[in-house]
Amino acid sequence: MISNRALKVEPSLTLGISSKAKEMKSKGIYVINFSAGEPDFDTPKVIKDSCKKALDEGKTKYAPVAGIPELRKAICNEYSKIGLNYDIKNVLVTVGAKEALFLAILAIVNSGDEVILPSPYWVSYKEMINIADGIAVTIDSGIEKDFKVSASDIEKAITPRTKAIIINSPSNPTGCVYTESELRDIAKVLEDKNIYIISDEIYDRLLYDGIKHFSIASASEKIKEKTILINGFSKSCSMTGWRLGYALGGKEIINYMERLQSHSTSGPATFIEYAAVESFNIDDEIEKMREEFEKRRDIMVDGLNNIKGIKSLKPKGAFYCFADIRYYIGKNIDGKLIKSSMDFAELLLEKAHVAVVPGLAFGIDGYMRLSFATSQEDIIEGIKRIKQIVEG
Ligand SMILES: Cc1ncc(COP(=O)(O)O)c(C=O)c1O
Repeated sequence: MISNRALKVEPSLTLGISSKAKEMKSKGIYVINFSAGEPDFDTPKVIKDSCKKALDEGKTKYAPVAGIPELRKAICNEYSKIGLNYDIKNVLVTVGAKEALFLAILAIVNSGDEVILPSPYWVSYKEMINIADGIAVTIDSGIEKDFKVSASDIEKAITPRTKAIIINSPSNPTGCVYTESELRDIAKVLEDKNIYIISDEIYDRLLYDGIKHFSIASASEKIKEKTILINGFSKSCSMTGWRLGYALGGKEIINYMERLQSHSTSGPATFIEYAAVESFNIDDEIEKMREEFEKRRDIMVDGLNNIKGIKSLKPKGAFYCFADIRYYIGKNIDGKLIKSSMDFAELLLEKAHVAVVPGLAFGIDGYMRLSFATSQEDIIEGIKRIKQIVEG
């Protein structure tokens, strides 16, 4: 009785690990959770206050499907600061960045169309392409290539069926950030092709080592027209539970995404859209969170590289380390044969009470993702536990 569409959606490996970790916690076990994809900070007070105010003012009715004009204007204003000029007709406010991505893919992908997906990738991209009956054409990368793909890798992957490419910089799961010149090289390959660029920039404000964000949409007017820029409030404003995101793009594609939204979610809650207008005035708070993430990153990376057989790059953005554990594949740890990153993650959870996400969940084995969106104390303790269990 279940549709083929639903049947082909893979159950989430990530959720499996986190529910096991939750179950252990409920039994009183102190689990260090490196698996979460969300900041541990509370939402800034000014945003919460502004949400309460919106409720008190009765902002409780349907909003325009594309989002309230105040928020769309604030988004345009924010992008104009980096030289990307959009009109409010180029903006669609969505239920999280996730819905923006889903609508973008549904609006452009026909059955059998190919979408180029650099790997390792955030798992939902693959499933969304799948649901739209498209084909994800992955380009593999690894630690040796800083987890990036080059313009020429992309050029080789293009076929007459290529409809879109997904770029995610800063990246979940790897924390890698494409430089301006790398993105300009990619843009050159795509400039004269009929291919959409879905650029997921949800971690754009979480950058380290003084790096400034560069959006591929800034490469040229032609590229901007083809780019569906995805962003949201979950990560940089610590608003994961509010479910608010947006897409910026050409009027035609935004219009079709709005149509899809009008017959599905109708858009996010009205008072939440009002609250988010404030999020563009809290640079100092966002900076404080970013600085704390940078400190935690340094502790985590140093700790990981101090464990025999584990290697981590210093992520330039987001809040994840994607550590190489290939040394342990095929070896025995604490009496258990490690055949895959899944086995490794299970071992860490069961024996060290540390939750990580196996690389397999992101399309590549031999790695694990650790989120440093957790306290410095937990990072120190978690790394100590991993070291103890793997070094014996
Ligand atoms: C790369 C990436 N894109 C999009 C999202 C979705 O974010 P949102 O909470 O806004 O739906 C996530 C969340 O984990 C993410 O990591």
